[in-house]
Amino acid sequence: MSMSSKRSAHSFPQIIVYQIYPKSFKDSNNDGVGDLAGIIEKLDYLDGKTNVGLGVDAIWLSPIFKSPMVDGGYDIADYLDIDPSFGTFEDFNKLLEEAHKRGIKTILDFVPNHTSDQHPWFLKSKSSRDNPKRNYYIWKNPKEDGSAPNNWLSAFGGSAWEYDKPTRQYYLHSFYKEQPDLNWRNPLVFKEMMAILKFWLDKGVDGFRIDSVHMIFKDQVFRDDPPNPDYQEGVDDPYNALVHINSMKQPERFEVLKAFSKLLDSYKDKIMITEEYTDILGMTEYYNIYSSPYHIPLNFNLLLLPWDAEVFKKFLDTYEQSLKPHNTPNFVLSNHDRARVASRLGPDAAKVAAMLLLTLRGIIFIYYGEELELENVELPKEKITDRNTEKQKSLEGGRDPVRTPMQWNSGQYAGFSKVEPWLPVAKNFREVNVQTQSKNPHSTFSLYRKLIRLRRSNQALKNGDYVPLPAPDKNVLAFIRRDEKNEVLVLLNFSDQKKNVSLNYRNAKNICNTFLDAGEGAIVNLTKFTLRANEGCVFDV
Ligand code: BGC
Repeated sequence: MSMSSKRSAHSFPQIIVYQIYPKSFKDSNNDGVGDLAGIIEKLDYLDGKTNVGLGVDAIWLSPIFKSPMVDGGYDIADYLDIDPSFGTFEDFNKLLEEAHKRGIKTILDFVPNHTSDQHPWFLKSKSSRDNPKRNYYIWKNPKEDGSAPNNWLSAFGGSAWEYDKPTRQYYLHSFYKEQPDLNWRNPLVFKEMMAILKFWLDKGVDGFRIDSVHMIFKDQVFRDDPPNPDYQEGVDDPYNALVHINSMKQPERFEVLKAFSKLLDSYKDKIMITEEYTDILGMTEYYNIYSSPYHIPLNFNLLLLPWDAEVFKKFLDTYEQSLKPHNTPNFVLSNHDRARVASRLGPDAAKVAAMLLLTLRGIIFIYYGEELELENVELPKEKITDRNTEKQKSLEGGRDPVRTPMQWNSGQYAGFSKVEPWLPVAKNFREVNVQTQSKNPHSTFSLYRKLIRLRRSNQALKNGDYVPLPAPDKNVLAFIRRDEKNEVLVLLNFSDQKKNVSLNYRNAKNICNTFLDAGEGAIVNLTKFTLRANEGCVFDV
């Protein structure tokens, strides 16, 4: 029944990256905001060697640099310093050292498209038209009638241009007006950014997640973006009224990324993860220029596609097929900008999604708290801090509901802090937290831990190829992971009804199911097998 594998097994980096939103992970100094010392405190939780911990290979920290925090740290005022709310350089050095001691890599979030308007470069740039830093940013004269230079929009609402009265020019900001876009056509900007990457690499960081890379170059002559014919006024985000072909996605970005990639490659096995929400064709453009298997374009498709086994199969088969041997696949289910999986798919399907994520090849991403099945937290209006909330159409309540404090125990403030945290803790924290779930052998945390252990110990899951299988039912996704000697079959029921399947395996050993109960270890005959509603199973075959 199984089809032949596309290529023979080879080694590729299989890395579990755990994304930490530092403000919300653990507050060590009781000011209500998470910090680096808090992360250090919790490294044993992330480490797999202690047997109680989760067992991740790398942590990616959302930005920790000096920032006025207008956009949760994605507005950087100094790329070479730590924000005081997170701690000091000493804390960072200690974090790096402690993480490395446990074999955990540390990945920083690097934001090249824009800085904070408080960055010294921008303060100088703004000070006069002839300041040497003027050209670090994108300044344009108004149109004759005084209006903005073109129709480009900010992803966070309104025009992408802000008028500066004293110097009588507009500057460009693809996000908030407090996040002016850098001018990547100025070679000095490129030089500065390369030096910043080198600074952190020399300090020993293991790589970067690079923010909004598709935006760094804009059309050289600033043509308007054309109208989007599919746009529905009053329904869609007004940002989607235009097709953003001139305000972003220029081919010149690949030259810069090649240079980043080359720089990282001059060190050993440094990770580069670039952010653009795009399809397989779009990802291929990035893969084509990355020569290291440690350099990947983020694959957001599993979080964008409808929860439908046929749609997922088509995507996975095509994506895997599109990859060259040195291209490492990667998979994301959630992050600090998107809904929690349990809120998007429901808690039952979330477990099936977790099994899928943890049995696929390559580099996978776990957003903090997903291992506890945290949900989007409904917040009272007065508690919302993310200014982007009002206009968010894709995520009700904006992004704060997915950035609430990590739930460590059933004590006050869920053990995140001793004082009231910057965002409220979810109401369910007394039941849903690390302490209770780690004691419960049927919890989502136990499922994550078990699947992570399996991913490390099972040779087929560790090194095997992805081999597509014909769907045994239109609601069931089935695939094989196989290396030269071992073979594992993954069966995932995407529906909330039981499904009968028939596959040509008579002696399959059930090594994990999403309910963590009946049947584990049992030898089953899959020619006649019933998957329970929302059940996922991994079989040794
Ligand atoms: C980040 C967002 C941020 C934006 C602007 C994104 O891609 O993930 O959180 O607001 O870039 O930096």
